[in-house]
Amino acid sequence: YVLILDFGSQYTQLIARRVREAGVYSEIHPYNKGMEAISRNAPAAIVLSGGPASIYGQASPQLEKEILSAGVPILGICYGLQAIAHTLGGRVEPADDREYGRANLSYINPNSWLLEGIRPGAQVWMSHGDKVMMLPEGFEVTSSTEDTAFASFESPDHRICGVQFHPEVVHTPDGATILQNFLRKIAGLKPDWSMASFIETTCEHIRDRVGDAHVVAALSGGVDSSVMVVLLHKAIGDKLHPIFVNNGLLRKNEAQEVLSTFEDLGVQLDYVDAADRFLGQLRGVIDPEKKRKIIGQEFIRIFEEESARFPDVKFLAQGTLYPDVIESVSFKGGPSATIKTHHNVGGLPERMNLELIEPLRELFKDEVRSLGAELGIPDSILWRHPFPGPGLAVRILGEITPERVAVLQEADAIAIEEIRKAGLYRNIWQAFVVLLPVRSVGVMGDERTYEHVAALRAVEATDGMTADWYPIPHETLGVISNRIINEVRGINRVVYDISSKPPSTIEWE
Ligand code: XMP
Repeated sequence: YVLILDFGSQYTQLIARRVREAGVYSEIHPYNKGMEAISRNAPAAIVLSGGPASIYGQASPQLEKEILSAGVPILGICYGLQAIAHTLGGRVEPADDREYGRANLSYINPNSWLLEGIRPGAQVWMSHGDKVMMLPEGFEVTSSTEDTAFASFESPDHRICGVQFHPEVVHTPDGATILQNFLRKIAGLKPDWSMASFIETTCEHIRDRVGDAHVVAALSGGVDSSVMVVLLHKAIGDKLHPIFVNNGLLRKNEAQEVLSTFEDLGVQLDYVDAADRFLGQLRGVIDPEKKRKIIGQEFIRIFEEESARFPDVKFLAQGTLYPDVIESVSFKGGPSATIKTHHNVGGLPERMNLELIEPLRELFKDEVRSLGAELGIPDSILWRHPFPGPGLAVRILGEITPERVAVLQEADAIAIEEIRKAGLYRNIWQAFVVLLPVRSVGVMGDERTYEHVAALRAVEATDGMTADWYPIPHETLGVISNRIINEVRGINRVVYDISSKPPSTIEWE
C-alpha cells in the first residue's frame, strides 16, 4: 500500500483518491507518525503531501530523516518537495513572487522517470510561496517553469522525487500519468486494488477479528449503514445482528422499503417498530435540541434492550467514513460552538462495553457507493439523499403529533417524486419539505381555509458543511406547490427556501 504523510494540505484527500484510482490502495496518516510505526506497516511507497507552513519557520512540521533513508520510494508534493530538499541539505527560501495557479513546464529533463511521457509546455497547477533554491547533493532537476527553476527533481536512483506543482488536481492534466509513473515505474506497484479485492480482504480481516463473537449494528437505511451491514453480513453471516429502529419519524414508506430491500438481499434485520415510544416522549416538546436529546436517548435505550437479546455480543459495527475520521482529527479540541448536536449515538460503545468495527473507515463516499453496487445494493439506497438521525422531528417546527408527521410525509413524498420526474434528484444534495407552525388564510372552492404553511428546501453541497440553495426550475416548483396544496389536507400554502449555509443551516432546526 501507499502511505500518504499529511503535512496539512487541502489536497491530501485528493492524493489518496488519485492513488486508489490508479489501482493502488492508499492511506493518509499524520506527518509525524514516526519511523517505527511506519516500518511496522511496511508501505511500498510514501507520498509527502503539501502543507501551509514554511519549512524553515518556527515549529513547522518536519520530515524525519530516517524516512528518506529507508529505501522506500518517496514522492514529495509542494511542501513535501521542500521538506525533502530541506532535510537532505538543500535550501528553501521565501519566493519574491508567490506562484499560484496555472503554469507550464518550459523544460523537462529527458532522464526523468517521473515525467516520462510528459511533453514540454505541459500545464501544471502551482500553489506556493516558498521555493527550492538549491538541490540536495547529487539530485537532478527534472523540470522548470518560467518562475520556478526547480519545479521537480529526482535523486540519482530516481527513488526519491519531488514536484513543486500539484499532480493530484484536475488542473494538472498530466497529473494522473505522473502519479502512475511514480507508482508503476519507480515503486514497481501493480494496479491490483479494486472494490472486489477490498471486499475480500476486509471480510477476511473481520472474520479474524470477530472469531465466534456476535456483532450488533444500527441500520438507518442510509447509504453508509446499509453498505456496512451488507458487507458485515457477507463476512460473518448471522452472527451480525442489524437493528433497524423505526422511530416513527421516517419518510413515507421508508420503513417498508428498507425491510423489503434487505429481505431481497438475504439479510435478516432485527426490526423494532418504536413509533409510539418516540412520539410519546416527544409530546409537547418544541425545542430542537430537546427533541434531538430525547430521540438520541430513546434510541440508545432501545438499542441496548435489543442487543441484550443476542448472545455473546462483543462488537458494535458502525458505518464511519474516511472524511468523518479525518475531520475528527483536524477539528479535535477546536474551539467551535455547538450549532446542533448531530451525533446521537456517540457514547454507545463505551456504555455497552463493546469494541468498534468500522469497515468503511478508509473509504470516501463515492467509493462506498461503488462498494455497495458491487455488493448488489440497489441504487434507491445508494443514491438516497442524506437524512438526519432525528428524522422528521427536526422538520416539523413546533409540536410533533402523529397527524403532523403524516401530513409532512405526504407533502415530502410529492416533492421528491416531482424532483425525480424532473431528473433533478441526483444533482441535489438534499431536498425535503418542512412543516411550519404558522397557519395562513386561503380560499378553496369558495371556502375560507386556515391551514399550515409548508416550506420546500433543496440544496447543493459536497459535504453538508456549506451549502447553497438549489434553483429548481419554476415549472417544477409550480407542480410541486400545486400538488401539495391540492393533495395534502392541512396545507394551503407552499414557500421556497432560498437561504444558503452559512448563515442558515440545511435543516430548519
Ligand atoms: P445542518 O442543518 O446542520 O445539517 O446544516 C448538515 C447535515 O447534517 C444533517 N443533520 C443531522 N444528521 N443528526 C444527524 O444524523 C442530526 O441531528 C442532524 N441535524 C442535521 C442534515 O440533514 C445535513 O445533511
